[in-house]
Amino acid sequence: VNSESVSLCPLSTTAATEQEMLCIFGTGDLGRSLGQRFLQTGYKVVYGSRRPHSCGPLPPGTQVHHVAAAQSARLVFICIHRENYDFLETLAPQLKGKVLVDVSNNLKKNMYPEANAEYLQRLIPGAQVVKGFNTLSAWALQNGPSDANRQVYVCGNSLEAKQAVIEVATKLGFTVLDRGSLTAARELEDFPLQLFPEWRLPLKLATGLTAFFFFYLLIRDVIYSYVVNDKDVSFRIMASLANKVFPIVSLIMLSLCYLPGVIAAFLQLYRGTKYKRFPDWLDRWMLCRKQLGLVALALASLHVLYTLIIPIRYYVRYRLAAHTISQIRENKTSPFDTTMAWRTDSYYVIGILGFGLYLLLGITSLPSVSNILSWREFSFIQSKLGYLTLFFCTFHTYLYGWDKFLQPSSYKWFMLPGYMLSLVVPSVVLVLKLLLLLPCCNRPRLSCLVSLSISHSI
Ligand code: HEM
Repeated sequence: VNSESVSLCPLSTTAATEQEMLCIFGTGDLGRSLGQRFLQTGYKVVYGSRRPHSCGPLPPGTQVHHVAAAQSARLVFICIHRENYDFLETLAPQLKGKVLVDVSNNLKKNMYPEANAEYLQRLIPGAQVVKGFNTLSAWALQNGPSDANRQVYVCGNSLEAKQAVIEVATKLGFTVLDRGSLTAARELEDFPLQLFPEWRLPLKLATGLTAFFFFYLLIRDVIYSYVVNDKDVSFRIMASLANKVFPIVSLIMLSLCYLPGVIAAFLQLYRGTKYKRFPDWLDRWMLCRKQLGLVALALASLHVLYTLIIPIRYYVRYRLAAHTISQIRENKTSPFDTTMAWRTDSYYVIGILGFGLYLLLGITSLPSVSNILSWREFSFIQSKLGYLTLFFCTFHTYLYGWDKFLQPSSYKWFMLPGYMLSLVVPSVVLVLKLLLLLPCCNRPRLSCLVSLSISHSI
């Protein structure tokens, strides 16, 4: 083989397409960043502007022309605001047959009756409009795809046009998700306006429960002492109260991760069929269980940190010293209480085991970890170990309560201690789960389907 011909021969046909010309309308931040990435990937870039002489600095190697620049490219990226689209209407004849990529976004949801991309398609019916790249920021474009910013969504009515855009996005290093026809454009345009949508409900719930238990315990532990015993124990707000509120809310939220699963299982048993959809509220609840669990884990971690400082707290050291001194004065020694030793050691250890499993659940719910687990491994951890975690944490709290349930002094102003309230939902979930394990309920066909429907929402 002639060595010259080998070295000169292109390895594939991509070399030819690398020189493809792409046109960008708009010389703002996004247009410039997009152009820069196109150039780095090996495309030729031409900018179209209404005022080609007065636009700012553009990436070196690009040209800027009047809007007629579109003629030299098949793909035209529209990086201008929707308010300026009407001028594009005047270019309809030049844009006929072109693929117009609408990368625009709006400042608010529902600002216009139709999506920007649909509006563009209506203005220029002869072109093929594809919505895409709008979920990327100029920053992400300049720095290239990173793990968190690898996805590009596209939608459009022409398969061929979408394919051309997908090819460009793939060459730029992005992973493309086809969302279907142009009717999905509104949904795509809403994406960048959403702020952690799946975290909203868990965070609202955590805030609501925290506020409720804070005021409940403030009345029970602080105001009660002040009114009935004339004692100011307001300093308890900082550590004691917080170390009650956080674990209580954490335990309730952990149980709320498993409640929808058992509700779904009973619903299927009651209906006797798997072929009916779950109600929307149950679907939505299931979809935010990961976030519920992670917020709960954060609160449990706070409880563990607060517990670490108990021995060094001034109040605790003072009480201990005062107790010892009074015993010396009275020449008394309290006998060693083996039951108390068993009780305290047990609830600490069960708490530690519960927290260890809690951490395992949290770590395996992170995408980088869950992606390398098989479905069976993932479901084993999240379901079986999940219930075990709930069991340990609930048992920890029961052991902590011990016989206080029976002492009338625990019910101040007829208010139950906070931890008793926190035990209601977890206990119900565990009892329901036990019922589901009974042979009459544990029909493999149904339970398998329940776990499948749950798996879709994890
Ligand atoms: C209470 C220790 C993990 C839930 C307590 C208390 C201690 C403690 C010392 C009594 C606090 C007090 O006297 O005010 C630990 C340790 C843990 C752990 C060492 C692990 C390293 C957990 C976990 C949960 C949990 C994972 C589940 C969310 C509770 C609850 C209370 C409690 C609900 C009762 C709060 C109250 O009303 O006083 N724990 N705990 N704990 N713990 Fe834990």
